Amino acid sequence: VLKSILHSLLDLSWISKIQVNQPAVLRRAQQIQARRTVKKEWQAAWLLKAVTFIDLTTLAGDDTYSNIQRLCYKAKYPIREDLLEALNMHDKGITTAAVCVYPARVCDAVKALKAAGCTIPVASVATGFPAGQTHLKTRLEEVKLAVEDGATEIDVVINRTLVLTGQWEALYDEIRQFRKACGKAHLKTILATGELGSLTNVYKASMIAMMAGSDFIKTSTGKETVNATFPVAIVMLRAIRDFFWKTGKKIGFKPAGGIRSAKDSLAWLSLIKEELGDEWLKPELFRIGASALLSDIERQIYHHVTGRYAAYHDLPMC
Ligand SMILES: *[C@@H]1O[C@H](CO)[C@@H](O)[C@H](O)[C@H]1NC(C)=O
Ligand SMILES: *[C@@H]1O[C@H](CO)[C@@H](O)[C@H](O)[C@H]1NC(C)=O
Repeated sequence: VLKSILHSLLDLSWISKIQVNQPAVLRRAQQIQARRTVKKEWQAAWLLKAVTFIDLTTLAGDDTYSNIQRLCYKAKYPIREDLLEALNMHDKGITTAAVCVYPARVCDAVKALKAAGCTIPVASVATGFPAGQTHLKTRLEEVKLAVEDGATEIDVVINRTLVLTGQWEALYDEIRQFRKACGKAHLKTILATGELGSLTNVYKASMIAMMAGSDFIKTSTGKETVNATFPVAIVMLRAIRDFFWKTGKKIGFKPAGGIRSAKDSLAWLSLIKEELGDEWLKPELFRIGASALLSDIERQIYHHVTGRYAAYHDLPMC
């Protein structure tokens, strides 16, 4: 009980004096990106691990039941069976971590996964994604309806103006309301860091989102002009670490937007490993929001197994 009171505590003293040292963060980001991430012989295993962190996403105006169905099938069978067999990983039940869709498509995803006999969670974006420019009342209603339809994870966007004008208490109150509307569903709070102005704001918004009860903090919607970047990630990961030291609670991290290559996914894994440690490398605490990434990982695994690059028809896309 004490812990849960602590988690819902707004303590502005945690953020009031924070100033992120931008040059140091940029240096650290360069360091990580310049490094060769994983030894060649371990690459396939790490790529398969990356698959299990993916929130396989489609957020398009023309999404229909049939492409949601294909997405769900791909989430259940992310890598061709014979490739998994060659790696002796075919009986490990490798799936993506979740599928992520618009609220109006949650029913489709739930139905398709059920038909496939699959228990992968359905995540829904909500609260006027991606801009958040709808009335609070409809944003809250949207969360509730997505949960009613069977989403067990809700990716909300915040009001960026509250960050840009330093209205931390109002931001906290808003996210608390999202938290309440989620009920038992997990709350993933998208900060849209490309629109927050400074790394100091990114740190503060991260802290507020965690104090307000987010299970995950997420970098971007994928619709801003700046997507998930390493400097922003480093700041968010340090906020997660500081929050853990203060409360003992582990909050998850989800980079999203523009993560397309297998190589990038490995860089993200090593960033998490170095900043937070192996205990964060599990789907409960780390996700990658992506749509095209899985295809590239499958291509790299195909190459690893066969020594050839896949032709277009070798690997059906989702
Ligand atoms: C976001 O916050 C600003 C500042 O308080 C407010 O003026 C604006 O109406 C809010 N946006 C929404 C969509 O509620
Ligand atoms: C951000 O990510 C989205 C989705 O992956 C992509 O369409 C867009 O081109 C990216 N933008 C930038 C600036 O990288």
